[in-house]
Amino acid sequence: MKVTSNTVFLALPDNESLSKNLATQLGAESGVIVVRHFPDGESYVRIDTSISGKDVILVCGLHNPDKKVLSLLFAAATARELGAKRIGLVAPYLAYMRQDKRFKFGESLSSLQFAQLLCRYVDWITTIDPHLHRWTSLAEIYPIPGTVLHSAPLLAAWIRSNVKNPVVIGPDSESQQWVSEVARDTNAPYLVLDKTRHGDRDVVVSLPDASMLRDRTPVLVDDIISTARTMIMAIKHLGEQRTAPPVCVGVHGIFSQNAYAELVAAGAHRIATTNAVPHETNAIDVSNMIGDALAVFLQESN
Ligand code: R5P
Repeated sequence: MKVTSNTVFLALPDNESLSKNLATQLGAESGVIVVRHFPDGESYVRIDTSISGKDVILVCGLHNPDKKVLSLLFAAATARELGAKRIGLVAPYLAYMRQDKRFKFGESLSSLQFAQLLCRYVDWITTIDPHLHRWTSLAEIYPIPGTVLHSAPLLAAWIRSNVKNPVVIGPDSESQQWVSEVARDTNAPYLVLDKTRHGDRDVVVSLPDASMLRDRTPVLVDDIISTARTMIMAIKHLGEQRTAPPVCVGVHGIFSQNAYAELVAAGAHRIATTNAVPHETNAIDVSNMIGDALAVFLQESN
């Protein structure tokens, strides 16, 4: 669907291909933005495209956010100074959603603080499956127009085409929301485990119900794979129950440090993620879903 020639996409580093793809889908302009670092590590941003009076869409996946956020905010502030009519952010992965509570006295409630920071700079946001646990909707902390896309139908389509006789497994209670949808669309049974996190890499996951695993391929589905400890601990239990080799499906494959190698070593038979976070496990394309949603949003809000 073509929208308007008055829309300019600007890609922050490493988002060029998604940004170009979206601009082509929408018949919009791909603008030029230069982002680099000075020798002392400070960020340099230059928007080298005329954007006065235009709808500017910044494309910036926010995994490893601390390396990217300042450039993003400088880009948004510069777009505003150059007269952009409106500034939107497409962040297929939205960072800082997991610290949704002060677990200990004095901790920063970074999910809320990050939201407040971004909302000072951008007018709307589009993202995919933000981690919603104690916050029940994105709007609770992002008081700007927000489009939340759900990858469950795409995950289900991938499982249908790639896994025979699956049983879908969610590793913790908050995964119930997407696991139930994935299982329904896959026409497979599902179960949800209990997880207790004692530290960044210290996770305990409950034993799955063996009767549901018989003659089926376990498919672990999670919204984020970060250290992969959650999936690794679940795989350990599946091994004890001698199930078929498990498949791991993640929406956002962040894979911090050696997580990918450790997950493979733990026995993941196949790992598939969406390209919301670029990684060699990407097997599920979200760009058309984003493009379709942007087309509707831009038409309805212009
Ligand atoms: C948190 O509750 C999420 O849904 C994921 O389960 C979690 O982020 C996975 O993290 P890790 O890969 O570090 O275990």
